[in-house]
Amino acid sequence: MPKITLPDGTSFEAPENKRLVLALEDAGIDILHRCGGNARCTTCRVVFRAGEPSVMTRAERDRLTAGLLVGKVRLSCQILCRQDMSVEPVYRVSNGDADSSGDRPADDITPPAEWVSR
Ligand code: FES
Repeated sequence: MPKITLPDGTSFEAPENKRLVLALEDAGIDILHRCGGNARCTTCRVVFRAGEPSVMTRAERDRLTAGLLVGKVRLSCQILCRQDMSVEPVYRVSNGDADSSGDRPADDITPPAEWVSR
């Protein structure tokens, strides 16, 4: 199973092909996902330190482009756990970034994933 490593050096194993945002949340990370995992809000953003996927969904690319965020962050709701990754979740409830994480994203990527190179 892919290993997910956090900035404090802790790590956990995530089920293959699980959405990264859900893997983080289910590991106890209170990452925001205010739009419910639909590539709209960007609050699920993570900074990659290693293992950044070479592909992204078209929805992620369009949203990052619109927000001038390409090359800076990735949207964890649009990423599947397919390899070891070291990431920094940016917005968290415990940081005071919001009162709640938001509605839980669906198990599958939404909108339906159309993969493009990053
Ligand atoms: S963009 Fe809103 S949860 Fe990912």
